[in-house]
Amino acid sequence: MAVEPAVLSEQFQALAWTAEGLRLLDQRQLPGSEIYLLCRSAEDVAEAITNMSVRGAPAIGIAAAYGIALAARELGSSDNWSAALEPSFALLEGTRPTAVNLAWALRMMMQQVQRPLQDSDMPAALLALAKQIHDSDREANLTMGRLGAQQLRKYDKRAQHVITHCNAGALATGGFGTALGVIRTAHAAGLIEQVHANETRPWLQGSRLTAWELVREGIPVSLQADLAVGHLMKEQTVSWVIVGADRIAANGDVANKIGTYALAVLAMHHGVRFMVVAPSSTIDMQLENGDLIPLEERDADELLIVGNRQLDTGAEVFNPVFDVTPADLIDVIVTEKGIIERPDARKLADLMSRQRLH
Ligand code: MRU
Repeated sequence: MAVEPAVLSEQFQALAWTAEGLRLLDQRQLPGSEIYLLCRSAEDVAEAITNMSVRGAPAIGIAAAYGIALAARELGSSDNWSAALEPSFALLEGTRPTAVNLAWALRMMMQQVQRPLQDSDMPAALLALAKQIHDSDREANLTMGRLGAQQLRKYDKRAQHVITHCNAGALATGGFGTALGVIRTAHAAGLIEQVHANETRPWLQGSRLTAWELVREGIPVSLQADLAVGHLMKEQTVSWVIVGADRIAANGDVANKIGTYALAVLAMHHGVRFMVVAPSSTIDMQLENGDLIPLEERDADELLIVGNRQLDTGAEVFNPVFDVTPADLIDVIVTEKGIIERPDARKLADLMSRQRLH
C-alpha cells in the first residue's frame, strides 16, 4: 500500500476513487497528520479495514465495495466471475464482524457479479456500483441530517447542548456523517450551542476524529472522559444524546461503539433524549434482537499501550469494542427512509418496506 503526501485543504474525503485505486485518509494518524493511503487491491482494502485506517460502519461497507471493484480490475476477464472473485469476497467479509454495512455492500456487489453481462464489462459494472453505493450513502446522510434536526427543533427551538460518542461523521461514512450529519445540519439551523464529545476509549475516535471534524468546521465541541457524562448530565442541561450504529436488529436493539449502552442508561436516568442515526443498510432484519449481533473484541494492546508506554501489570484484558443498547432505551431512530420513535419490531418492518426519502 503506497503512502501519498498530505493534501492540505479545508475539505477532506475519507474515501475517494482515483485512477490508481482507492484513496483513504489514514484515520490512525489523525489528528496529527493527514496521510493518504492508496489501495490497489482487495488485499490492501482488507488490511486497511482490519487495521482501522478506514473505520465506521458505512465507510467500511463502501471500502469493501471498492475492494471488489479492484479485484475485478486486477483479474481483467474471467469466464466465471463468481468463482474468480470468491476469495476477495471472503477476505473482505472476514475483516470486521459487527458493522452489517460490510455484508450489505458485499451482497449488493455479489448480485452484480451474478447478473449476466459481457465478460469485459464486469470490472466497469462493479466499479459503477461501488461508486453508486458511495454516492447514495452521502445522499442518505444529507436526508438524515434534515430529519434529525427536525426532531431537535420539535422539542426545543433554541440552541441546545448535545452529547455524541465515537465518530459517526464524514470520516465514518461516504460523507457528511450520520450522527454528525444531524449535528452539522442542526448547527447550521441555529439549534446547537455546544457538542459534548466522549473521548471514546480505548481507540479515541471522539477525541481524535470527532473533535478534528467539528473544530475545523467551527462547531463548538468540548471533550470529556467517557465516564464524565453522568456528571455532565446531572450538572448541565443536555437535550439529546446523538449516536450512530453498526447494526440495528429487527426489534430496534442497536449495536454501537462500546460505551453507548452505558450512555443510554444514563440518558434515561437523567431524562435526556436518545437518538440513533443510521442508514437503512445498517438495519439487519435477519436478526430478531440485539443478543444475536456478533460483537467484535480487539487486541489487548489497545488498552495496554497508552501513548508510548506499555502497561505491564500482568492483568488480563477484556476489550469488547461494541455493545448493544436495547430498543426501549432509544427515543428515535433516524434513517434515510424516515424516522421511528420508540422503535419496535412492527415499526422497523414498516420502515424497511418504505422507499427512501430524498
Ligand atoms: O470501531 P469503529 O470506529 O469502526 O466504530 C464506529 C462506530 O461505532 C460508529 O458509531 C458507527 O460505525 C457508526 S459510523 C456512521
